[in-house]
Amino acid sequence: MRVRLEPSGLGFDAEAGTTLLKSAEAAGIEMPSSCRNGTCRTCICQLVAGSIRHVIEWPGLSAEEKAEGWILPCVAEAQSDLTIDAPQAFSVF
Ligand code: FES
Repeated sequence: MRVRLEPSGLGFDAEAGTTLLKSAEAAGIEMPSSCRNGTCRTCICQLVAGSIRHVIEWPGLSAEEKAEGWILPCVAEAQSDLTIDAPQAFSVF
């Protein structure tokens, strides 16, 4: 599945069973992160298109935030091609 980051236009492939954060890093794309277990919210960003699932039962998001498309990439997996608003992402290459 292909993930596109806005507004940078950076993209990476998301493997099933791998979090979006790890897939991005594997492609040389840095996104903000800290705890990497879905509690600190450092990595929070907003889904523009596509669907994800969180791999933990209670990611640190309110129901309203989830409804608005906010996701925690450190504990989210792609379920389709995605577009994500991630203004702090940058390529290390
Ligand atoms: S890095 Fe802490 S919630 Fe994602």
